Amino acid sequence: MPDASLLNAIRAIVGDRGLLTAPSDTAAYVEDWRKLYRGQTAAVIRPGTTQELAAVVKLCAEAGTPVVPQGGNTSMVGGGIPAEDGSELVLSTSRMNRIRDVDPADMTLTLEAGVTLKAAQIAAAEAGCLLPLSISSEGTAQMGGILAVNAGGNNTVRYGNARDLVLGLEVVLPDGAIWNGLRRLRKDNTGYCLRQLFVGAEGTLGIITAAVLKLAPQPKEIAVALCGVPSVQAALALFTRFQGHDAASISAFELMSGLGMSFVLRHIPGATMPVETPSPFYVLVELATPRPNAGLRAMLEEILEAALTDGTVLDAAIAESDAQRAAIWKLREEHSEAQKREGASVKNDVSVPVSKVPAFIAQATAACEALIEGVRVVPFGHMGDGNIHFNLEQPVGSDAAWFLAQDHAIMDVVNEVVRAFDGSFSAEHGVGRLKPYMMPDWRGGVELALMQRIKSAIDPNGIMNPGKVLPAAE
Ligand code: MLT
Ligand code: ZN
Repeated sequence: MPDASLLNAIRAIVGDRGLLTAPSDTAAYVEDWRKLYRGQTAAVIRPGTTQELAAVVKLCAEAGTPVVPQGGNTSMVGGGIPAEDGSELVLSTSRMNRIRDVDPADMTLTLEAGVTLKAAQIAAAEAGCLLPLSISSEGTAQMGGILAVNAGGNNTVRYGNARDLVLGLEVVLPDGAIWNGLRRLRKDNTGYCLRQLFVGAEGTLGIITAAVLKLAPQPKEIAVALCGVPSVQAALALFTRFQGHDAASISAFELMSGLGMSFVLRHIPGATMPVETPSPFYVLVELATPRPNAGLRAMLEEILEAALTDGTVLDAAIAESDAQRAAIWKLREEHSEAQKREGASVKNDVSVPVSKVPAFIAQATAACEALIEGVRVVPFGHMGDGNIHFNLEQPVGSDAAWFLAQDHAIMDVVNEVVRAFDGSFSAEHGVGRLKPYMMPDWRGGVELALMQRIKSAIDPNGIMNPGKVLPAAE
Protein backbone atom coordinates (compact mmCIF):
# COMPACT_ATOMS: atom_id res chain seq x y z
CA MET A 1 0.00 0.00 0.00
CA PRO A 2 1.37 3.45 -0.89
CA ASP A 3 2.17 5.27 2.36
CA ALA A 4 0.92 8.65 3.54
CA SER A 5 4.24 10.42 2.95
CA LEU A 6 4.15 9.49 -0.76
CA LEU A 7 0.60 10.80 -1.07
CA ASN A 8 1.55 14.02 0.73
CA ALA A 9 4.49 14.54 -1.62
CA ILE A 10 2.19 13.94 -4.59
CA ARG A 11 -0.34 16.40 -3.17
CA ALA A 12 2.40 19.00 -3.02
CA ILE A 13 2.86 18.58 -6.79
CA VAL A 14 -0.72 18.34 -8.04
CA GLY A 15 -2.64 20.23 -5.34
CA ASP A 16 -5.88 19.19 -3.69
CA ARG A 17 -7.92 19.06 -6.88
CA GLY A 18 -5.32 16.77 -8.44
CA LEU A 19 -5.53 14.10 -5.76
CA LEU A 20 -8.64 12.08 -4.97
CA THR A 21 -8.49 9.78 -1.96
CA ALA A 22 -12.05 9.46 -0.64
CA PRO A 23 -13.57 6.14 -1.77
CA SER A 24 -16.65 8.01 -3.02
CA ASP A 25 -14.36 10.07 -5.31
CA THR A 26 -12.18 7.19 -6.51
CA ALA A 27 -15.05 4.71 -7.08
CA ALA A 28 -15.58 5.68 -10.72
CA TYR A 29 -11.89 5.04 -11.48
CA VAL A 30 -11.55 1.56 -10.01
CA GLU A 31 -14.33 -0.11 -11.96
CA ASP A 32 -14.79 -0.45 -15.71
CA TRP A 33 -17.95 0.66 -17.52
CA ARG A 34 -19.18 -2.92 -17.92
CA LYS A 35 -18.66 -3.53 -14.19
CA LEU A 36 -16.59 -6.63 -14.88
CA TYR A 37 -13.36 -5.48 -13.24
CA ARG A 38 -13.13 -3.83 -9.86
CA GLY A 39 -9.84 -2.89 -8.22
CA GLN A 40 -8.80 -0.72 -5.30
CA THR A 41 -6.56 2.26 -4.96
CA ALA A 42 -5.37 4.61 -2.22
CA ALA A 43 -5.58 7.55 -4.63
CA VAL A 44 -6.42 8.76 -8.09
CA ILE A 45 -3.91 11.36 -9.24
CA ARG A 46 -5.06 13.93 -11.77
CA PRO A 47 -2.09 16.05 -12.87
CA GLY A 48 -2.78 19.22 -14.81
CA THR A 49 0.40 19.23 -16.91
CA THR A 50 3.02 16.90 -18.32
CA GLN A 51 5.56 18.31 -15.86
CA GLU A 52 3.30 17.49 -12.91
CA LEU A 53 2.64 14.01 -14.25
CA ALA A 54 6.36 13.40 -14.74
CA ALA A 55 7.17 14.58 -11.21
CA VAL A 56 4.51 12.22 -9.82
CA VAL A 57 5.85 9.27 -11.78
CA LYS A 58 9.38 10.04 -10.56
CA LEU A 59 8.19 9.93 -6.95
CA CYS A 60 6.30 6.68 -7.55
CA ALA A 61 9.36 5.15 -9.22
CA GLU A 62 11.53 6.09 -6.26
CA ALA A 63 8.97 4.59 -3.87
CA GLY A 64 8.53 1.49 -6.06
CA THR A 65 4.79 2.18 -6.26
CA PRO A 66 3.13 0.99 -9.48
CA VAL A 67 0.90 3.35 -11.48
CA VAL A 68 -2.07 2.59 -13.72
CA PRO A 69 -2.65 5.20 -16.44
CA GLN A 70 -6.30 5.85 -17.17
CA GLY A 71 -8.06 7.95 -19.81
CA GLY A 72 -11.85 7.84 -20.28
CA ASN A 73 -12.12 4.40 -18.65
CA THR A 74 -13.84 2.92 -21.71
CA SER A 75 -11.57 -0.11 -22.06
CA MET A 76 -13.24 -3.38 -23.05
CA VAL A 77 -10.46 -5.43 -21.42
CA GLY A 78 -9.90 -3.75 -18.06
CA GLY A 79 -6.73 -2.00 -19.29
CA GLY A 80 -7.07 1.00 -16.94
CA ILE A 81 -8.29 -0.74 -13.79
CA PRO A 82 -5.90 -1.12 -10.82
CA ALA A 83 -5.22 -4.39 -9.00
CA GLU A 84 -7.52 -5.66 -6.25
CA ASP A 85 -4.86 -5.41 -3.53
CA GLY A 86 -4.76 -1.61 -3.51
CA SER A 87 -1.01 -1.48 -4.21
CA GLU A 88 -1.33 0.66 -7.35
CA LEU A 89 -2.13 4.34 -7.85
CA VAL A 90 -4.36 5.46 -10.72
CA LEU A 91 -2.95 8.26 -12.88
CA SER A 92 -5.77 9.93 -14.74
CA THR A 93 -5.01 12.16 -17.73
CA SER A 94 -8.46 13.77 -17.69
CA ARG A 95 -7.30 17.25 -16.63
CA MET A 96 -4.68 17.37 -19.36
CA ASN A 97 -7.19 18.27 -22.02
CA ARG A 98 -5.78 21.12 -24.04
CA ILE A 99 -5.64 21.34 -27.79
CA ARG A 100 -2.10 22.67 -28.22
CA ASP A 101 -2.17 23.43 -31.93
CA VAL A 102 -4.15 22.85 -35.11
CA ASP A 103 -2.32 23.48 -38.36
CA PRO A 104 -4.41 23.22 -41.53
CA ALA A 105 -1.32 23.80 -43.68
CA ASP A 106 0.64 20.91 -42.19
CA MET A 107 -2.69 19.08 -41.65
CA THR A 108 -1.78 18.29 -38.04
CA LEU A 109 -3.48 18.42 -34.67
CA THR A 110 -1.39 18.58 -31.50
CA LEU A 111 -3.28 17.69 -28.37
CA GLU A 112 -2.95 16.44 -24.82
CA ALA A 113 -3.84 12.96 -23.67
CA GLY A 114 -7.04 13.92 -21.86
CA VAL A 115 -8.79 15.43 -24.89
CA THR A 116 -11.76 13.25 -25.81
CA LEU A 117 -11.88 11.91 -29.34
CA LYS A 118 -15.09 13.91 -29.90
CA ALA A 119 -13.38 17.16 -28.84
CA ALA A 120 -10.43 16.33 -31.10
CA GLN A 121 -12.77 15.71 -34.05
CA ILE A 122 -14.45 19.07 -33.42
CA ALA A 123 -11.11 20.91 -33.21
CA ALA A 124 -10.07 19.39 -36.53
CA ALA A 125 -13.42 20.24 -38.16
CA GLU A 126 -13.23 23.86 -36.96
CA ALA A 127 -9.94 24.13 -38.85
CA GLY A 128 -11.61 22.71 -41.97
CA CYS A 129 -10.02 19.26 -41.61
CA LEU A 130 -11.03 15.74 -40.63
CA LEU A 131 -9.57 13.65 -37.83
CA PRO A 132 -10.29 10.33 -39.47
CA LEU A 133 -10.84 8.23 -36.36
CA SER A 134 -14.24 7.21 -35.06
CA ILE A 135 -15.18 4.73 -32.35
CA SER A 136 -18.45 4.08 -30.54
CA SER A 137 -17.18 5.56 -27.23
CA GLU A 138 -15.70 8.71 -28.80
CA GLY A 139 -17.63 11.09 -26.53
CA THR A 140 -15.83 9.68 -23.47
CA ALA A 141 -12.67 7.94 -24.67
CA GLN A 142 -9.56 10.11 -24.36
CA MET A 143 -6.82 10.38 -26.94
CA GLY A 144 -4.05 9.14 -24.63
CA GLY A 145 -5.91 5.91 -23.99
CA ILE A 146 -6.96 5.61 -27.61
CA LEU A 147 -3.33 5.81 -28.73
CA ALA A 148 -2.17 3.55 -25.91
CA VAL A 149 -4.42 0.77 -27.22
CA ASN A 150 -4.06 1.69 -30.89
CA ALA A 151 -7.83 1.84 -31.30
CA GLY A 152 -9.21 1.04 -34.73
CA GLY A 153 -12.89 1.79 -35.11
CA ASN A 154 -15.17 2.53 -38.00
CA ASN A 155 -12.83 4.20 -40.48
CA THR A 156 -9.88 1.79 -40.41
CA VAL A 157 -10.94 0.45 -43.81
CA ARG A 158 -10.01 3.84 -45.27
CA TYR A 159 -7.52 5.57 -42.94
CA GLY A 160 -5.90 2.78 -40.91
CA ASN A 161 -5.71 2.46 -37.12
CA ALA A 162 -4.80 5.12 -34.57
CA ARG A 163 -1.09 4.40 -35.03
CA ASP A 164 -1.34 5.36 -38.70
CA LEU A 165 -2.33 8.89 -37.65
CA VAL A 166 0.52 9.50 -35.20
CA LEU A 167 3.36 11.74 -36.35
CA GLY A 168 4.75 12.61 -32.94
CA LEU A 169 4.37 11.78 -29.24
CA GLU A 170 5.27 13.09 -25.84
CA VAL A 171 5.68 10.34 -23.26
CA VAL A 172 6.49 10.21 -19.57
CA LEU A 173 8.79 7.25 -19.03
CA PRO A 174 8.73 4.92 -16.00
CA ASP A 175 11.54 6.85 -14.28
CA GLY A 176 9.73 10.16 -14.68
CA ALA A 177 11.78 11.43 -17.62
CA ILE A 178 9.85 13.23 -20.36
CA TRP A 179 10.50 12.14 -23.95
CA ASN A 180 9.50 14.98 -26.23
CA GLY A 181 9.00 13.46 -29.65
CA LEU A 182 6.28 15.89 -30.71
CA ARG A 183 7.53 16.20 -34.25
CA ARG A 184 5.23 16.68 -37.20
CA LEU A 185 7.45 15.29 -39.92
CA ARG A 186 6.09 13.12 -42.70
CA LYS A 187 9.50 11.56 -43.15
CA ASP A 188 11.87 10.83 -40.30
CA ASN A 189 14.06 7.75 -40.41
CA THR A 190 16.46 8.84 -37.71
CA GLY A 191 16.93 5.59 -35.85
CA TYR A 192 14.25 3.40 -34.31
CA CYS A 193 10.65 4.54 -34.56
CA LEU A 194 10.12 5.09 -30.83
CA ARG A 195 6.64 6.53 -31.04
CA GLN A 196 5.23 3.30 -32.44
CA LEU A 197 6.63 1.43 -29.43
CA PHE A 198 4.34 3.36 -27.12
CA VAL A 199 1.27 3.20 -29.38
CA GLY A 200 -0.44 -0.09 -28.58
CA ALA A 201 1.67 -0.75 -25.47
CA GLU A 202 -1.38 -0.06 -23.28
CA GLY A 203 0.57 2.11 -20.84
CA THR A 204 3.03 -0.64 -19.93
CA LEU A 205 6.08 1.25 -21.23
CA GLY A 206 5.19 4.83 -20.37
CA ILE A 207 2.33 7.31 -20.31
CA ILE A 208 1.43 9.13 -23.50
CA THR A 209 0.83 12.75 -22.48
CA ALA A 210 0.52 14.49 -25.87
CA ALA A 211 0.50 13.66 -29.57
CA VAL A 212 0.71 15.16 -33.03
CA LEU A 213 -1.92 13.58 -35.27
CA LYS A 214 -2.22 13.59 -39.02
CA LEU A 215 -5.42 15.11 -40.39
CA ALA A 216 -7.24 14.44 -43.66
CA PRO A 217 -9.30 16.70 -45.92
CA GLN A 218 -12.89 17.12 -44.78
CA PRO A 219 -15.40 15.15 -46.86
CA LYS A 220 -17.63 17.30 -49.06
CA GLU A 221 -19.99 14.52 -50.03
CA ILE A 222 -21.07 11.65 -47.77
CA ALA A 223 -23.56 8.90 -48.58
CA VAL A 224 -24.75 6.36 -46.01
CA ALA A 225 -27.02 3.35 -46.43
CA LEU A 226 -28.33 0.60 -44.23
CA CYS A 227 -28.80 -2.68 -46.09
CA GLY A 228 -30.46 -5.89 -44.97
CA VAL A 229 -28.55 -8.88 -46.35
CA PRO A 230 -29.38 -12.61 -46.33
CA SER A 231 -25.96 -13.78 -45.08
CA VAL A 232 -22.45 -12.70 -44.15
CA GLN A 233 -21.37 -14.10 -47.51
CA ALA A 234 -23.74 -11.63 -49.19
CA ALA A 235 -22.27 -8.82 -47.05
CA LEU A 236 -18.83 -9.77 -48.35
CA ALA A 237 -20.10 -9.86 -51.94
CA LEU A 238 -21.50 -6.35 -51.45
CA PHE A 239 -18.19 -5.11 -50.03
CA THR A 240 -16.37 -6.54 -53.04
CA ARG A 241 -18.75 -4.69 -55.34
CA PHE A 242 -18.13 -1.36 -53.64
CA GLN A 243 -14.42 -2.00 -53.79
CA GLY A 244 -14.66 -2.76 -57.49
CA HIS A 245 -16.48 0.51 -58.17
CA ASP A 246 -14.49 2.95 -56.06
CA ALA A 247 -12.52 1.41 -53.20
CA ALA A 248 -11.10 4.79 -52.18
CA SER A 249 -14.51 6.20 -51.34
CA ILE A 250 -15.45 3.52 -48.76
CA SER A 251 -15.05 5.15 -45.35
CA ALA A 252 -16.93 2.51 -43.34
CA PHE A 253 -18.36 -0.93 -44.00
CA GLU A 254 -19.93 -2.28 -40.82
CA LEU A 255 -21.69 -5.57 -40.17
CA MET A 256 -24.51 -6.21 -37.69
CA SER A 257 -26.71 -9.21 -37.03
CA GLY A 258 -30.49 -9.34 -36.81
CA LEU A 259 -30.20 -10.33 -33.15
CA GLY A 260 -27.84 -7.47 -32.30
CA MET A 261 -30.18 -5.08 -34.08
CA SER A 262 -33.14 -6.37 -32.06
CA PHE A 263 -31.23 -5.59 -28.84
CA VAL A 264 -30.62 -2.01 -30.03
CA LEU A 265 -34.29 -1.53 -30.95
CA ARG A 266 -35.38 -2.97 -27.58
CA HIS A 267 -33.01 -1.08 -25.29
CA ILE A 268 -31.98 2.19 -26.94
CA PRO A 269 -34.52 5.00 -26.75
CA GLY A 270 -35.14 6.63 -30.12
CA ALA A 271 -33.60 3.81 -32.19
CA THR A 272 -35.70 3.15 -35.29
CA MET A 273 -35.29 0.91 -38.31
CA PRO A 274 -35.20 2.65 -41.69
CA VAL A 275 -35.82 -0.63 -43.60
CA GLU A 276 -38.92 -2.80 -43.36
CA THR A 277 -37.77 -6.30 -44.28
CA PRO A 278 -36.25 -8.13 -41.29
CA SER A 279 -32.92 -9.61 -42.34
CA PRO A 280 -30.44 -12.07 -40.80
CA PHE A 281 -27.65 -9.50 -41.14
CA TYR A 282 -27.28 -5.80 -41.85
CA VAL A 283 -24.56 -3.71 -43.40
CA LEU A 284 -23.92 -0.02 -42.85
CA VAL A 285 -21.96 1.40 -45.74
CA GLU A 286 -20.57 4.92 -45.74
CA LEU A 287 -18.98 6.52 -48.79
CA ALA A 288 -17.18 9.85 -48.50
CA THR A 289 -15.04 12.07 -50.65
CA PRO A 290 -13.38 15.48 -50.30
CA ARG A 291 -14.50 16.25 -53.87
CA PRO A 292 -17.80 18.16 -54.01
CA ASN A 293 -20.60 16.74 -56.18
CA ALA A 294 -18.61 13.62 -56.95
CA GLY A 295 -21.69 11.51 -57.63
CA LEU A 296 -21.40 9.22 -54.62
CA ARG A 297 -25.13 9.10 -54.07
CA ALA A 298 -25.70 7.99 -57.66
CA MET A 299 -23.03 5.32 -57.33
CA LEU A 300 -24.57 4.06 -54.09
CA GLU A 301 -28.01 3.85 -55.73
CA GLU A 302 -26.65 2.04 -58.75
CA ILE A 303 -24.82 -0.60 -56.71
CA LEU A 304 -27.74 -1.14 -54.35
CA GLU A 305 -30.26 -1.39 -57.17
CA ALA A 306 -28.23 -4.15 -58.82
CA ALA A 307 -27.76 -5.89 -55.45
CA LEU A 308 -31.50 -5.73 -54.71
CA THR A 309 -32.23 -7.20 -58.10
CA ASP A 310 -29.94 -10.20 -57.72
CA GLY A 311 -30.79 -10.81 -54.05
CA THR A 312 -27.44 -9.81 -52.53
CA VAL A 313 -29.39 -7.16 -50.65
CA LEU A 314 -32.92 -7.79 -49.31
CA ASP A 315 -33.82 -4.21 -48.42
CA ALA A 316 -31.96 -0.90 -48.23
CA ALA A 317 -32.41 2.68 -47.08
CA ILE A 318 -30.21 5.60 -48.09
CA ALA A 319 -29.97 8.51 -45.65
CA GLU A 320 -31.57 11.66 -47.07
CA SER A 321 -30.34 14.08 -44.41
CA ASP A 322 -27.73 14.50 -41.69
CA ALA A 323 -30.37 13.45 -39.16
CA GLN A 324 -31.10 10.22 -41.05
CA ARG A 325 -27.39 9.53 -41.35
CA ALA A 326 -26.99 9.94 -37.60
CA ALA A 327 -30.00 7.70 -36.98
CA ILE A 328 -28.47 4.91 -39.07
CA TRP A 329 -25.11 5.27 -37.30
CA LYS A 330 -26.88 5.17 -33.94
CA LEU A 331 -28.10 1.64 -34.75
CA ARG A 332 -24.50 0.56 -35.13
CA GLU A 333 -22.85 2.60 -32.40
CA GLU A 334 -25.27 1.56 -29.68
CA HIS A 335 -24.59 -2.14 -30.16
CA SER A 336 -22.31 -2.45 -27.11
CA GLU A 337 -24.62 -0.48 -24.85
CA ALA A 338 -27.66 -2.46 -25.99
CA GLN A 339 -25.83 -5.71 -25.40
CA LYS A 340 -24.91 -4.61 -21.92
CA ARG A 341 -28.56 -3.79 -21.14
CA GLU A 342 -29.69 -7.15 -22.52
CA GLY A 343 -27.56 -9.03 -19.98
CA ALA A 344 -24.11 -10.51 -19.41
CA SER A 345 -21.87 -10.86 -22.43
CA VAL A 346 -18.45 -12.24 -23.24
CA LYS A 347 -16.57 -10.24 -25.84
CA ASN A 348 -14.12 -11.44 -28.45
CA ASP A 349 -12.36 -8.75 -30.47
CA VAL A 350 -10.85 -10.70 -33.31
CA SER A 351 -9.59 -10.08 -36.80
CA VAL A 352 -9.24 -12.39 -39.76
CA PRO A 353 -8.56 -11.67 -43.42
CA VAL A 354 -11.65 -9.90 -44.81
CA SER A 355 -12.32 -12.75 -47.25
CA LYS A 356 -12.54 -15.19 -44.31
CA VAL A 357 -15.12 -13.27 -42.26
CA PRO A 358 -18.11 -15.39 -43.44
CA ALA A 359 -16.37 -18.70 -42.74
CA PHE A 360 -15.07 -17.43 -39.41
CA ILE A 361 -18.53 -16.33 -38.24
CA ALA A 362 -20.14 -19.61 -39.37
CA GLN A 363 -17.54 -21.80 -37.66
CA ALA A 364 -17.25 -19.76 -34.46
CA THR A 365 -21.05 -19.66 -34.15
CA ALA A 366 -21.25 -23.44 -34.44
CA ALA A 367 -18.45 -23.87 -31.88
CA CYS A 368 -20.12 -21.59 -29.31
CA GLU A 369 -23.56 -23.11 -29.79
CA ALA A 370 -22.03 -26.55 -29.23
CA LEU A 371 -20.30 -25.31 -26.07
CA ILE A 372 -23.25 -23.56 -24.38
CA GLU A 373 -26.81 -24.47 -25.13
CA GLY A 374 -28.92 -21.43 -25.91
CA VAL A 375 -25.99 -18.99 -26.08
CA ARG A 376 -26.88 -15.97 -28.19
CA VAL A 377 -24.25 -15.13 -30.77
CA VAL A 378 -23.96 -11.43 -31.63
CA PRO A 379 -21.25 -10.82 -34.24
CA PHE A 380 -20.84 -7.23 -35.41
CA GLY A 381 -18.18 -4.76 -36.30
CA HIS A 382 -15.75 -3.56 -38.84
CA MET A 383 -16.21 -6.00 -41.68
CA GLY A 384 -14.32 -3.80 -44.13
CA ASP A 385 -11.07 -4.39 -42.21
CA GLY A 386 -11.81 -7.93 -40.99
CA ASN A 387 -12.30 -6.95 -37.30
CA ILE A 388 -15.35 -8.68 -35.85
CA HIS A 389 -16.67 -8.24 -32.32
CA PHE A 390 -17.75 -11.82 -31.85
CA ASN A 391 -19.79 -11.30 -28.72
CA LEU A 392 -21.82 -13.88 -26.86
CA GLU A 393 -24.89 -13.02 -24.85
CA GLN A 394 -26.00 -15.20 -21.95
CA PRO A 395 -28.81 -17.69 -22.73
CA VAL A 396 -32.25 -16.29 -21.89
CA GLY A 397 -33.08 -16.98 -18.24
CA SER A 398 -29.57 -18.17 -17.32
CA ASP A 399 -27.50 -16.93 -14.40
CA ALA A 400 -25.19 -14.04 -15.36
CA ALA A 401 -22.37 -15.05 -13.00
CA TRP A 402 -22.48 -18.66 -14.27
CA PHE A 403 -22.24 -17.40 -17.83
CA LEU A 404 -19.38 -14.96 -17.16
CA ALA A 405 -17.42 -17.69 -15.36
CA GLN A 406 -17.17 -19.45 -18.71
CA ASP A 407 -15.39 -16.57 -20.40
CA HIS A 408 -12.10 -18.41 -20.91
CA ALA A 409 -13.85 -21.51 -22.27
CA ILE A 410 -15.79 -19.33 -24.72
CA MET A 411 -12.78 -17.28 -25.76
CA ASP A 412 -10.76 -20.47 -26.23
CA VAL A 413 -13.23 -22.08 -28.67
CA VAL A 414 -13.61 -18.83 -30.61
CA ASN A 415 -9.88 -18.32 -30.77
CA GLU A 416 -9.26 -21.82 -32.09
CA VAL A 417 -11.31 -20.77 -35.11
CA VAL A 418 -9.42 -17.47 -35.28
CA ARG A 419 -6.16 -19.41 -35.28
CA ALA A 420 -7.32 -21.58 -38.18
CA PHE A 421 -7.61 -18.39 -40.24
CA ASP A 422 -4.30 -17.01 -39.01
CA GLY A 423 -6.12 -14.18 -37.28
CA SER A 424 -5.65 -12.14 -34.10
CA PHE A 425 -7.38 -12.52 -30.72
CA SER A 426 -6.84 -8.84 -29.99
CA ALA A 427 -7.71 -6.69 -32.97
CA GLU A 428 -8.45 -3.21 -31.60
CA HIS A 429 -9.43 -3.38 -27.92
CA GLY A 430 -6.06 -4.43 -26.57
CA VAL A 431 -4.92 -7.26 -24.33
CA GLY A 432 -5.54 -5.42 -21.05
CA ARG A 433 -5.87 -7.55 -17.98
CA LEU A 434 -8.31 -9.96 -19.62
CA LYS A 435 -6.05 -11.62 -22.14
CA PRO A 436 -2.37 -11.74 -21.06
CA TYR A 437 -2.89 -15.44 -20.32
CA MET A 438 -3.23 -16.04 -24.05
CA MET A 439 0.07 -14.41 -24.97
CA PRO A 440 2.45 -17.38 -24.48
CA ASP A 441 0.32 -19.56 -26.73
CA TRP A 442 -0.11 -16.91 -29.44
CA ARG A 443 3.00 -14.79 -29.33
CA GLY A 444 5.32 -17.19 -27.58
CA GLY A 445 8.96 -17.98 -28.33
CA VAL A 446 11.07 -15.26 -29.89
CA GLU A 447 8.19 -12.78 -30.14
CA LEU A 448 7.15 -12.84 -26.48
CA ALA A 449 10.79 -12.89 -25.33
CA LEU A 450 11.44 -9.78 -27.42
CA MET A 451 8.43 -8.02 -25.89
CA GLN A 452 9.59 -8.99 -22.38
CA ARG A 453 13.07 -7.63 -23.10
CA ILE A 454 11.62 -4.35 -24.32
CA LYS A 455 9.46 -4.14 -21.19
CA SER A 456 12.36 -4.78 -18.83
CA ALA A 457 14.67 -2.40 -20.71
CA ILE A 458 12.21 0.51 -20.50
CA ASP A 459 10.48 -0.34 -17.22
CA PRO A 460 13.03 -2.43 -15.27
CA ASN A 461 11.13 -2.14 -11.98
CA GLY A 462 7.78 -3.01 -13.53
CA ILE A 463 5.88 0.02 -12.21
CA MET A 464 3.96 0.84 -15.41
CA ASN A 465 0.50 -0.74 -15.56
CA PRO A 466 1.54 -4.13 -14.13
CA GLY A 467 -0.37 -7.22 -15.12
CA LYS A 468 -1.50 -5.80 -18.44
CA VAL A 469 -0.52 -7.11 -21.90
CA LEU A 470 2.30 -9.44 -20.81
CA PRO A 471 1.80 -12.48 -18.59
CA ALA A 472 3.35 -12.16 -15.12
CA ALA A 473 6.96 -13.37 -15.07
CA GLU A 474 7.30 -16.95 -13.71
C1 MLT B 1 -17.54 -1.18 -31.30
O1 MLT B 1 -17.00 -1.23 -32.40
O2 MLT B 1 -18.71 -0.76 -31.16
C2 MLT B 1 -16.78 -1.65 -30.09
O3 MLT B 1 -15.42 -1.74 -30.43
C3 MLT B 1 -17.31 -2.94 -29.67
C4 MLT B 1 -17.63 -4.00 -28.70
O4 MLT B 1 -18.57 -3.88 -27.89
O5 MLT B 1 -17.06 -5.12 -28.68
ZN1 ZN C 1 -15.06 -1.84 -32.64
